[in-house]
Amino acid sequence: MSGLRIADRMSRLGTESAFETLAQARRLEAQGRDVVHMEIGEPDFATPPNISEAAIRALREGATHYTPASGIWEVREATARYVTRQTGVPTVPEQIVLVPGSKNLLHFALLSLIEPGDEVLLPDPGYPIYSSLINFVGATPVSVPIREQNDFRLDVRELRSLVTPRTRALIVNSPANPTGGVLTREDCEAIAAVAIEHDLFVVSDEIYSRLIYDGRHVSLYSIDGMAERCVLMDGLSKAWAMCGWRLGFGAMPVQLAQRMDTLMINTSSCAAAFTQWAAVEAFEGAASDAAVSAMMAEFTERRDVVVDGLNAIPGVRCHKPAGAFYVFPNIEATGWDERALQQALLNEAGVAVLAGTAFGAHGRGYLRLSYANSVANLEKGIERIGNLLAGTPPERSGSGAAVPS
Ligand SMILES: Cc1ncc(COP(=O)(O)O)c(C=O)c1O
Repeated sequence: MSGLRIADRMSRLGTESAFETLAQARRLEAQGRDVVHMEIGEPDFATPPNISEAAIRALREGATHYTPASGIWEVREATARYVTRQTGVPTVPEQIVLVPGSKNLLHFALLSLIEPGDEVLLPDPGYPIYSSLINFVGATPVSVPIREQNDFRLDVRELRSLVTPRTRALIVNSPANPTGGVLTREDCEAIAAVAIEHDLFVVSDEIYSRLIYDGRHVSLYSIDGMAERCVLMDGLSKAWAMCGWRLGFGAMPVQLAQRMDTLMINTSSCAAAFTQWAAVEAFEGAASDAAVSAMMAEFTERRDVVVDGLNAIPGVRCHKPAGAFYVFPNIEATGWDERALQQALLNEAGVAVLAGTAFGAHGRGYLRLSYANSVANLEKGIERIGNLLAGTPPERSGSGAAVPS
């Protein structure tokens, strides 16, 4: 056979470079190199035991079958209660769809609402899957720059200036990957006003909603007039350290939920039954909120170690993130190109980080570091970054980065 003829649409899909960098780092580790992982966007904690126990119980009790496509009714009820509690917006189970990972909600919303040629606004830098899926459905991604000078919050005046007659939807992400930026209530109200004025649908990616350092998360879904033109995209991955369980949930207008049900029937059939039962425990179990709080206390300490450590390195300027577990330091004054620095840090210093441009053109001059790692490892990683930038090869600095461990 002369090779498979791959459909054109596949060339429009992008990727998440975190997975590629992780694979590269694992190859180095297989050769005996020591690598500090600051590339991965996943909490390093174990899933809280009460949640794992609930899943085991569910399996023992026979939760091993297909479920309705949008989810088990009682779990949709519990999810609706959770969304109502978190956002203050009365939400009914018919508005809830459970999916194997929240990314599906974005994909399904785009498939349901967007025509080829439509424009979709998205944050830049932003989660790379946004532009990938917008391109995949044949629409045009339009970048809304996210700027450090604005505390990495979306600038609503800039957003407004980018709306054209072809703009159909807007993706918003708060707290944000990769910057840790968090929108204020005023920001959310101003974004809602633009969406309503221009009749835009909004995908509000709130997967980091529980990972806020000061104050409370403001959900765009909770702003007047938004529940009817918005999909609230959330999931269990980050708040309860459950990335591998693959469970996302969305709250949306019932009409859209029905289309997502059809898409689920045509793709995954349903999310795994036992993970759905585990979600009820995550939302309502007595120990679950305490587990989130304990994780946040740990993330707060790590954030301070990483921010202070990076700011002590000449040429590096690191803004303190208000949410999530990422920092997005500016490295322009070091003279390094961010992609070259990513490679040098991995290959010469043994630290896996991502170039800011992996998240869009406006990430030029920045790196993204995840602090989902122990304080000891983070300190080791920062020291290696400082040594490399100081022009001291790790082998000579005594940190032992390139020495087989
Ligand atoms: C901003 C953002 N949205 C969505 C996701 C996907 O999460 P899930 O595990 O629910 O698919 C991620 C994962 O890193 C993310 O960073």
